[in-house]
Amino acid sequence: MKLSKIVIASCLVLTGFGASAQKAARDAKMDAYINKLMAKMTLDEKIGQLNLPSIGFDVTGPILSQGVEGKIEKGMVGGVFNTYTPNAVRKLQELAIKKTRLKIPLLFGYDVIHGHRTIFPIPLGLSASWDMPLIQKTARAAADEATADGLNWVFSPMVDIARDPRWGRVAEGGGEDTWLGSQIARAMVKGYQGEKNDLRREDAVLACVKHFALYGAAEAGRDYNTVDMSMRKMTETYLPAYKAAVDAGVATVMSSFNEINGVPAAANHWLLTDLLRNQWGFKGMVATDYTAIMELKNHGMGDDAQVAKLALVAGNDMDMVSDLFIGELKKLVQAKKLDVKYIDLACRRVLESKYKLGLFDDPYRNISEDRAKNNIMNAEKLALAKEAAEKSMVLLKNDNNTLPLQAGKKIAFVGPMVKNQRDLIGNWSGAGDWKKATSFWDALQAQYPSNKFTYAKGANILDDQALIDKLNPHDAQIVLDSKSPADMIKEAVEKAKDADVVVAMLGEAFGMSGEAASRSDIGLPVNQQNLLKALRETGKPIVLVLMNGRPLTLQWEHDNTAAILETWFPGTKAGDAIADVLFGKYNPSGKLSMTFPRSVGQIPIYYNAKNTGRPVSDQKYTSKYLDIPNTPLYPFGHGLSYTTFGYSDIKLSKNTIRNGERLQASITLSNTGKYDGEETVQLYIRDMVGSVTRPVKELKGFRKLFLKAGESKTVTFNLSTDDLKFYDINMKYTTEPGDFKLFIGTSSADVKEADFKLL
Ligand code: BGC
Repeated sequence: MKLSKIVIASCLVLTGFGASAQKAARDAKMDAYINKLMAKMTLDEKIGQLNLPSIGFDVTGPILSQGVEGKIEKGMVGGVFNTYTPNAVRKLQELAIKKTRLKIPLLFGYDVIHGHRTIFPIPLGLSASWDMPLIQKTARAAADEATADGLNWVFSPMVDIARDPRWGRVAEGGGEDTWLGSQIARAMVKGYQGEKNDLRREDAVLACVKHFALYGAAEAGRDYNTVDMSMRKMTETYLPAYKAAVDAGVATVMSSFNEINGVPAAANHWLLTDLLRNQWGFKGMVATDYTAIMELKNHGMGDDAQVAKLALVAGNDMDMVSDLFIGELKKLVQAKKLDVKYIDLACRRVLESKYKLGLFDDPYRNISEDRAKNNIMNAEKLALAKEAAEKSMVLLKNDNNTLPLQAGKKIAFVGPMVKNQRDLIGNWSGAGDWKKATSFWDALQAQYPSNKFTYAKGANILDDQALIDKLNPHDAQIVLDSKSPADMIKEAVEKAKDADVVVAMLGEAFGMSGEAASRSDIGLPVNQQNLLKALRETGKPIVLVLMNGRPLTLQWEHDNTAAILETWFPGTKAGDAIADVLFGKYNPSGKLSMTFPRSVGQIPIYYNAKNTGRPVSDQKYTSKYLDIPNTPLYPFGHGLSYTTFGYSDIKLSKNTIRNGERLQASITLSNTGKYDGEETVQLYIRDMVGSVTRPVKELKGFRKLFLKAGESKTVTFNLSTDDLKFYDINMKYTTEPGDFKLFIGTSSADVKEADFKLL
C-alpha cells in the first residue's frame, strides 16, 4: 500500500518536471527565434508590429481605416481585424509575406462573440444554460469556423460582471455573478484555444479576454461612462472573472474604454502591469479597445504624444485603430522622451503571439476553401446551435401549466417577433447571416404542417422613429408596417378572440442592446405594451415569449399573462428551438444569470447584496423603498420547468469543520411532476461574522441533473474550506472561524438552509 503511493507520487513529480522542462525548452526556442528576428528589425518595423487597424468597417467613419493595404506593404501593421474569408485573408497575408522586408505575418482578429457563422444565443443567454461543457463547445465550434475563415484571433470572451441592465452590453457577458462568470471565462478560453492551449492547431485561435477592467460597472449603466470603485469591491466581485481567464491561459487581453478611479484603463499602469502582469503573471499580449488611445485625449490625459506614451508604458502592446503608436512613438524615442525598451517589449509580445500560433512556419495556417466549405455551418454546428438555444431559454412563469402548448389547439401567434428573422441572431453576431436564421413561423409551419394557428403582427418592434434612427445603422433598420398601429392591434385582437390561447412574441430589436445601446427605461417598447394590453382585454390566456438582450422590467406583464418564456436572441436555430420549447419537445431548463428588477429604481440590484445595519422588515426605519418591495421580479438563478422538483432538507456530513477539511452537503432532488426534465441545483453560503461584512448569499457551486418524471437523485456537494475564503480586513485571502449558513435550492431566493461552524 505504502509502496504504491510512493511510486505514484514520484511518477507525478517526474511528469510535472517533464512538462515544465518541455515548456522551458519551447520557450527558449521561441526566445532564440524572436531575438534573432528582432535584431534585424528597425525601430519603424518594431512600431509597425504594434499597429492594429480595422479593415473595411469603421464605427468612427471611414478615415481611420483607409490605406491599410499600403501600410501593410510598408511594414506598418502587426495585425488587422474585420477581414475574413480565406481569399480576403490570403490576399492581405500575401502583402505582408511578399512585400515586406522581414516577411512577418499578420494577425487576423475579429469579434467572434457568440459564434462566427453559426450563431449561438447571445452570451447572456448562453450563460443562462449554466452548462459549462456546452459553452465550451460553442466556443470550440466558433474557433473552428473562424479559423476556416482565415482568422487567428477572436475578441472574446467578454467577462465584464454587470449589475445594471440599463447597460446594453450585459447582452455580451455572463451576468452578475463572480463565481459563475469565472466558470464561463474558463470554459470559453478552453473552447477557443483548445483544451491543452495548443495554439498551433489549425482550429485554435488566440482568445482575448475583455474589457479589462470593470467596464460593466459604468455609472448609471451608460456605455463608456466612468467607473469609481473600492479596491475591495473590484477584488471581490469584478476582477476574478478576468483572472480566471488568465489562469486558464488566455493568450491576449483587451484593455477597456472606461476610467477606473481617475485613470483610464488604457493608460493604467497599475492595472495593465502591476496587477495583470506582475501579480497575476500574465505573459501574453494586451491590445487596446477601439480607438481607446485616441480617446485618452477626451479623458483629459494629454495630447497625441502624451497619450501614446502613456498607453504604451502602462502596458498596452497593440494600438487598435488610433494610429497613434505609429504616429508618435518614433518621434518620442528620437526626442529621448521614451525609452525604446517599451517598444521592444511590446513588439516581442506581438511576435510571441504570432510564434505561438505557428504563423512563422505557416502564415496561412492551412486556410483553404475546402475547410471553409466543410466546417462552416455544417450539420454538427447547426445541431449545437439548436441545443444551445434550447438550453439558454428561461421559463419565467407558467400558471396553470399553460405551457407546453398543445398543437391541436387554436393558437393565435401575435407580435413583431413571430415572423422576424433580422433580430434572431442578436447583437455582435459577427459574420453571422441573419437570412440563414430560421424564423419561428417557418419552423412552426414545417413542424406542424396541418394546424389551426393564426398570425397577426400586432405591432412594430418600435414606432418611435427617433429611436429607430439611433439604432445601429448597419442594416438594422426597422421597417414600419404599412398598417397603422391601431389597425395592427385591431387585427391581432380579432385573431386572439377566435383562439384558445394567445402567444405574444415581443421584445427588443437586436440593436436595442449591445454596444452604445444603454436604455433608461428597460420595459418593452410602449407600442408593444399597448398591443399586450389590448390582448389582455380579450380574456384569453396569454403566453408571452420574449426576445431581448438584457433583463427587462416586466411587472405588468407578470401580473397579466399566464406564462412567460425568455428566449434572449437565440441565434441561427432560433425558430426551431422556440417551437421545441413552446410545444414541449424540449423542457426548459435555463436559469437567470442576472436579476430582473421590478423597476429601474431598484438598480443596481443583485442577489449577493449585504445585509446592512437595518435589514428590510415591517419597521419603518429599515433599508427599503416606500413604493415597491426590495425583492426583484425574478431573482438570480430563477427558472422554471414544465415539471416540478422537490428538494429534501439538507444533510451535512458534520456541523463543524477545520481548515483544510471538507464538508459534504447533500439533498435529495425529486422530479414530482409529469415531465422528464433538467434542474440546476444551486449551492450558496453565507459567512455570518467577519472582520468585514459578507454578502447574504454567495454562489459556490451548482449541479445540473436530469431526472425522469417520478425519479429522485441525491446530490452531494463537496465543499472545501477554500470555498469559505474571502478578502479579510487586511485584504488577505483567508478564512475566519465562525458560523456559516449553507443553502441549497432552485434559485437564489428559494433554498433550504443548514448551519455549520468553521473552527
Ligand atoms: C468594442 C470591443 C470590440 C472592438 C472591436 C469595440 O468598440 O468595445 O468589444 O472588440 O470594438 O470591434
